Amino acid sequence: MQARAPLMIEHRLIEQMLNVIQHELERVEQTQSIDPYFVDKAVDFIRVYADRTHHGKEEDILFRDLWKKQQSNEVWQMMDELIEDHVFARNTTKALVEANMRYRRGHGAALGEVTARLRTLLDFYPKHIKKEDEIFFPATRAYFTEEEDQAMLAEFWEFDRKMIHEKYKSVVKEFEAK
Ligand SMILES: [Fe+2]
Ligand SMILES: [Fe+2]
Repeated sequence: MQARAPLMIEHRLIEQMLNVIQHELERVEQTQSIDPYFVDKAVDFIRVYADRTHHGKEEDILFRDLWKKQQSNEVWQMMDELIEDHVFARNTTKALVEANMRYRRGHGAALGEVTARLRTLLDFYPKHIKKEDEIFFPATRAYFTEEEDQAMLAEFWEFDRKMIHEKYKSVVKEFEAK
């Protein structure tokens, strides 16, 4: 298995989640209301899975190893753009959390912002994923030897192994802070 394989498999689950959000938005159009708990779960997926677990492996391992390589300007630019994309997703999610908080407190007008932020994520992720799957991953594979690629893959598994512990430590810390 190549190192990019788990990243591409994760992209498929992110796409499935986007479909779930899409269906929820269609329901919201009819009812003019959203379940704030649904938004919490979607945010948890985006933050813990799409951002920390998935973007984490991209940035902390793949991009880190690519920075060490002598490479074309095109690749540097692509990497910069992908990092900016990740920041954009993080900021959009933060704004979604804030809007959801207002909505939950009874500000009905915040519904528009909640749905707008969800739509932004629905629009953003497929483009970002396409860039990685079709351009960035194939283009950057050539910079690594088979051994380097396999070392990254091993580090990906190790990174994943820690995630469940990180997630639930943060849950306990959050409760303790209240
Ligand atoms: Fe990415
Ligand atoms: Fe990705």
